[in-house]
Amino acid sequence: MTNNYHIGPSRDEVQAHRGASAIAPENTLAAFRAAAEQGARWVELDVALLGDDTLVVIHDDSVDRTTSGRGSLGELTAADIASLDAGTWFDPKFSGERLPTLSQVIALLGELGLSANVEIKQHKHHKSLDHLVHAVQAAIAGRSADTGIMISSFDPQALAAMHALEPDLEMAMLWWSPPADWQDVLKAIPSRTIHMNYKALSIALLEETSRNGVKVRAWTSNNPVELVSFWGAGLTGVITDNPSLFLG
Ligand code: G3P
Ligand code: CA
Repeated sequence: MTNNYHIGPSRDEVQAHRGASAIAPENTLAAFRAAAEQGARWVELDVALLGDDTLVVIHDDSVDRTTSGRGSLGELTAADIASLDAGTWFDPKFSGERLPTLSQVIALLGELGLSANVEIKQHKHHKSLDHLVHAVQAAIAGRSADTGIMISSFDPQALAAMHALEPDLEMAMLWWSPPADWQDVLKAIPSRTIHMNYKALSIALLEETSRNGVKVRAWTSNNPVELVSFWGAGLTGVITDNPSLFLG
């Protein structure tokens, strides 16, 4: 399938948001397989710790919305989540999908030839930031040689802590809208990448980021039309629930 737009992101700049979450249950192995089937090379995923320090791939701070279970992540252990169904809520055909650990996802990405944007979610139940970033570091250490990793977060302290452990990884600052001192925030991380709510993008901002050598990806867009004027102004990539819309 081809799209009708003359310009757009390169294949390496289309990230499947929580996997191909338009067609499979978010943040499950099925969603990452679906992203690969659509031809994506990158997936975005969210990580958080359970009460027993198991690092899992899930967006919320509880399992209520996306599994058959109930409870806050901080009250649950690996044994508790092992039997939860993370697929039926989306579509019964995904019955039996599990809530995966980051290590399980990293292993699958190696098999699929995919790379990952690991979004570090900061939740109130986390014991410490240090604890969290070391868990991420341990999980990504198991990646295959072909699996690229970048880190993103709404929390600049999480990016700074992760950068101290993994200085060679790209760190992306997540923003709903750019703060006035956005350049200072990036320098403190340090990061040269912004992941921006697509509704807060403007040509003026992109021209400014381009002038300053800062990369900008847009989230979460499921309509190529809404981004079409931004590619020429310096937008680099897109995070989308449906990569096929942008892969052309
Ligand atoms: O990576 C961008 C996007 O995932 C941030 O928002 O809430 O979907 O994690 P959210
Ligand atoms: Ca995310």
